[in-house]
Amino acid sequence: MDKTICDCLGFMKEWAEKCCKGEKPPPNKIGSEKMDKKETQKIVREAYGKIAQGQKNCGCGTCGPDAKEFAKSIGYSEEELKVIPEEANLALSCGNPTALANLKEGEIVLDLGSGAGFDCFLAASRVGQKGKVIGVDMTPEMIEKARDNAKKNGVENVEFRLGEIENLPVADDSVDVVMSNCVINLSADKPRVFHEVYRVLKPGGRIAISDIALLKQLSKKIQESVKAYVGCVGGTILIDDYRKVVCASGLKDVKVTVKGSSSCIDPDTKDPIGSAILNVLEESESLQDYVVNIYVEGYK
Ligand SMILES: C[S@@+](CC[C@H](N)C(=O)[O-])C[C@H]1O[C@@H](n2cnc3c(N)ncnc32)[C@H](O)[C@@H]1O
Repeated sequence: MDKTICDCLGFMKEWAEKCCKGEKPPPNKIGSEKMDKKETQKIVREAYGKIAQGQKNCGCGTCGPDAKEFAKSIGYSEEELKVIPEEANLALSCGNPTALANLKEGEIVLDLGSGAGFDCFLAASRVGQKGKVIGVDMTPEMIEKARDNAKKNGVENVEFRLGEIENLPVADDSVDVVMSNCVINLSADKPRVFHEVYRVLKPGGRIAISDIALLKQLSKKIQESVKAYVGCVGGTILIDDYRKVVCASGLKDVKVTVKGSSSCIDPDTKDPIGSAILNVLEESESLQDYVVNIYVEGYK
């Protein structure tokens, strides 16, 4: 295996050491029916822990080195980016959920998989001092970075909580809006995530979610690739299945809108993870035939 890929996979030490020595990797259960949910979470957490600590280009949103330009390309305006601390933009997003959410002053907003706080800071400026934004992320390094960003920038109406989106550390019927940006595809238990979303929303509350979904099923090779999973490709599900999962939670008036092909992997990417994913496609295939950015709305 290419040395740069092994370096990039430093977060999966045992696996990387073995493969770098030319040994066969252990059977990979990611994406398979026998997928171990805890093991998947551990891999994702370790990967995003490294990204929070400065490792570049190994997660979702692997397009290009300029995080600001990348954010503009997925729907953020210059004005919006001015209110978000620069360090909170790790170029890990796939849309702008706040553009969907129509946030109002005084509202309580929950961001699933808040990363370094990117959308939380934008939402905080919209809901004002009478409102509040809660970011939940399972990666301690992300939470630390987000709290640090809030402190340095004097933002007082945000709170970052360490926790899983499958077991939200949030009270029943307590939030007006649940938003999320490029995270739910990474969950090995999407029905459980939406069950939790329904539980924490106030009656009449709404969701504004940006994520990645599939136009057609990925090959087994990609589904079982750890790199593709961490890169927000391998864990994606078909658009129709996504809609069914959201509806099954009890949310009403569910609307899933395709926002165009996913820019999560540039065909000319130099990123080793991105290239490794592209390498498992057949010659005539492009990732954009499979993966799209979606917006998901719905009400409790
Ligand atoms: C692709 S990043 C997106 C971060 C942020 N939403 C943004 O747009 O910058 C995914 C984030 O979700 C978190 N995450 C992934 N799976 C999670 C889970 N099951 N529970 C909580 N957080 C999770 C990761 O730690 C990471 O910070």
